[in-house]
Amino acid sequence: KYNIPTAGYKVFTNADEAKDYAEKHHPPLVVKADGLAAGKGVFICPSMDEAFLAIDIIMNQKAFGEAGDRIIIEEFLSGEEASFLAFTDGEDVLPLASAQDHKRVYENDEGPNTGGMGAYSPAPIITPSMQKKVMNEIMIPTVNAMKSEGRTFKGVLYAGLMIAKNGPKVLEFNARFGDPETQPILMRMRTDIVDVFTAVIEGRLKDIKLEWDKRTAVCVVMASEGYPGDYEKGKAITGLEEVKDMKDVVVFHAGTILEDGKFLTNGGRVLGVTAIGQGIKRAIKNAYKAVEKIDWDGVHYRKDIGAKAARSR
Ligand code: GLY
Repeated sequence: KYNIPTAGYKVFTNADEAKDYAEKHHPPLVVKADGLAAGKGVFICPSMDEAFLAIDIIMNQKAFGEAGDRIIIEEFLSGEEASFLAFTDGEDVLPLASAQDHKRVYENDEGPNTGGMGAYSPAPIITPSMQKKVMNEIMIPTVNAMKSEGRTFKGVLYAGLMIAKNGPKVLEFNARFGDPETQPILMRMRTDIVDVFTAVIEGRLKDIKLEWDKRTAVCVVMASEGYPGDYEKGKAITGLEEVKDMKDVVVFHAGTILEDGKFLTNGGRVLGVTAIGQGIKRAIKNAYKAVEKIDWDGVHYRKDIGAKAARSR
């Protein structure tokens, strides 16, 4: 309705019509359940057989219940993903520093998708001209669209983007910060966040200017063995005291619990070990120096967080 760039798509409520449409398009195709499916309702289909199978699983076998009553068939987008976050008071839109996360559980982007195994800020792919494009083509039109729909939005708008050859396209929107992108972004933010939140609430965002640390920040997520599948909880975490006073390092707790004065694991993504440094290589080094001091039975983390950004320098 508002011409905000996304993948080309069509919506279906009938499996046969969906298959007729799919047949007229070249794979790869993306087939999505339209409702919420606990992150499992998206099928990337390299062949027509797989696209038909995905339509059957969602619409005929009803694997996601009513969430699959409507499906979307989308063009497959290739490019690099980036997270673009902005504060808005419903009128003005103030972009945060750029960031990228690493979604797959294993090195070299292998294995299943997770909520994010690490992130860095800034993201080299979001050049100043790309930032302008994203603001003018996506963020500002979206905030204006919500206002004109009578649903003025105040808060953090998060656009998950694919930076495709022909420009940025929206993959998803979230009305929240990104995890783990926020850890490196906020390590770099010099402006008092409470002032920003107050300005958002009071509609004074145009008076705020965000100040950023020019250095790079990297967050390495330390996770439980088995995540994003089943995992055990209650493992004793060691090394937190050792990293507490390390310069330019902050350990964000995500899935921990304090019992009898000891930190135990209590979730899939347990810690976001975040460090800042002059340039991506130094930031990576600082983060892993801290990560290596922390341990528990079955700890898992990727060893290549930030490598993608370091390569594109
Ligand atoms: N890191 C992805 C998200 O927060 O949705």
